[in-house]
Amino acid sequence: MASEAPIGIFDSGIGGLTVAHAIARVLPAERLSYFGDTAHMPYGDRSPELVRSWSVRIAEHLLDQGCKAIVIACNSASATAAAAVRDLAGEAVPVLDVISPVVRAVAGQGHARIGVIGTRATIGSGIYGRTLRDALRESGRDGVVEEWATPLLAPLIEEGWQDHALMDPVLLSYLDAAGWAPDSSGAIDALIPGCTHYPLAMAAMRRVLGEQVDVVDGPGIVAESVRTQLAEEGLLHSGPLAGDHRFSVSDLTPGFERSATRFFGHGLDLAYDPLWA
Ligand code: DGL
Repeated sequence: MASEAPIGIFDSGIGGLTVAHAIARVLPAERLSYFGDTAHMPYGDRSPELVRSWSVRIAEHLLDQGCKAIVIACNSASATAAAAVRDLAGEAVPVLDVISPVVRAVAGQGHARIGVIGTRATIGSGIYGRTLRDALRESGRDGVVEEWATPLLAPLIEEGWQDHALMDPVLLSYLDAAGWAPDSSGAIDALIPGCTHYPLAMAAMRRVLGEQVDVVDGPGIVAESVRTQLAEEGLLHSGPLAGDHRFSVSDLTPGFERSATRFFGHGLDLAYDPLWA
C-alpha cells in the first residue's frame, strides 16, 4: 500500500470532522477522504445491527477508493461496528476506532472517578466502562468509571448552540442525573466526551464542571494514535501534501454545508456520494 494513498475517515454525519481536523493538524502531509452518512444520521439512536451494516458498506466504499487506513470517526460506529470493519479490511489496511486510544490514554492518567458521556448507542454498548475498567486493572490502578447517555447534546451542538443559554442547564441536568455534579459525593475528576460532536462543546463542559475536572481531548488523542499506527506500519507520508482532501456526504443540504464548516474549523467543499441511491 502506497503511503501517498488517502486516509479514509467516516462518521454518521459531520461530527467526525472534529477528528478529521485533528488528523489534518497532526499529519499535514496526509490526504484525507472523509465520508459522512448524513442520509442516516443520527447513528446514536439506531440499533447496533443497522449501524454495523451501514459502517461496513461505507468502509467498502473507502477501500474501493484505495484508502491505506480507515478511521471510524464516530463513537456509535466504533462501539458497534469496529470488529466488522476490521474483518472486512483484513491485515493490509489498519482500522482505527475513536474509543480504544482514548481508553488507553485515560487509563494511564490516574483519575479516581471517570465519567463518560455519549449517545444511547455508545453508552448502551457499555464499551467505555468495560474496556476502561480492564485497562485500569491491567495497569494496577484503581478508578471508578461511570457512563451516562446524553442524547440532547449532539442536536444542540449541531444547531451551533454549544454556548447558548440552554447548553449549561442541559449539561447540569445530565450531571445531576448521573450523580456527578460538582461538589456532590459522586463528583468526577475526568470527563470523556464520548461523541465526536462534543469537542465543539469543550468550553461549555469546562464551564459547568470547573477547572479541576479534566475534560479529555478525544480528537487530539486519536490523531496521535493514527500517527503512531501509520508509522508502525510504514504507511506514514512525509513531504508535501499527498493530494487534495475529499469530503463527501450521502445527503447534501445547505445546512450540512454550514455545519461542516463549523465542525472542521474552516470552509471546505462537500461532495455528494450517492452511496444509498
Ligand atoms: N458522531 C456520532 C458519535 O460520535 C454522534 C452523532 C450521531 O448520533 O450520529 O457517536
